[in-house]
Amino acid sequence: MEPSLDAAMSVIKKYAGNSFPKVGMILGSGLAPLADQIVNPITIPYQALGLSTGTVMGHASLLVFGTIKDVPVVCLKGRLHLYEGASYESIRTLVRIVKHLGAHSLLVTCAAGSLRKDVGPGEVMLINDHINFQPGNPLVGPNDESMGPRFVNLEDAYDPGLRKTFATVASRMNMPVQEGVYLSTLGPCFETPAEIRAFKTMGADLVGMSVVPEVIVARHCGLRVVGVAAITNLAVGMSEEKVTHEGTLQYADIAARKLVKIIPEFIHEAKAELCA
Ligand code: HPA
Repeated sequence: MEPSLDAAMSVIKKYAGNSFPKVGMILGSGLAPLADQIVNPITIPYQALGLSTGTVMGHASLLVFGTIKDVPVVCLKGRLHLYEGASYESIRTLVRIVKHLGAHSLLVTCAAGSLRKDVGPGEVMLINDHINFQPGNPLVGPNDESMGPRFVNLEDAYDPGLRKTFATVASRMNMPVQEGVYLSTLGPCFETPAEIRAFKTMGADLVGMSVVPEVIVARHCGLRVVGVAAITNLAVGMSEEKVTHEGTLQYADIAARKLVKIIPEFIHEAKAELCA
């Protein structure tokens, strides 16, 4: 049984009552070093909130409060995946905590496989749209009207203005980023070569096992979303190299080093947009 949002909020109030984050961040596989950018961190384990704990190597399960470039942030260090048995309810609770804390934006990072040969392992890609290839939707069930509308518009779910600012900052720092469509599978298997060929014809540029449920919940409650992927491999069947979780972590580290530089500058540059 997952805790109610109210129960989680009262625990947070006790440990981080004076934190009023404007930006939420979700860190994907191998991207935990981004949390080290947070100044004056206050850490709360998901367990203390009664939430399930992630089990994937490369994922911690901590809420980290603090500032980046003087902007108050809350970082979800480690995400919950459906393939681990996490419920949609727990994913909804995590994202809605960010909203309830008063944040305006959610920066979602992830590891992903690239379906484009011109964007290889170690590169960073901005997500400009998604294809929900998971077998469900986190908003199925009674709608909480206090959170958002029954029917959610996902056009421009990945905020065009914030994407533009991110790309400009990255180019200025000599780490230009491409944009693409993220397709989310349930996992935990990597795809088959036939699936990747099919996904390509569907218009996917990246493939991963997360992001989409969180973004749907975030858009439902009106958070502005930025999605950034660390490309950890060419998708299955596209290169000689076999795709393994260990291999993805190695390249996540290379992309994470770029993101560690770009994200603070992006937050600084986009401060007004992120906080409004
Ligand atoms: N497929 C699915 N998820 C992933 C991949 C992939 O190739 N790489 C990193 N996460």
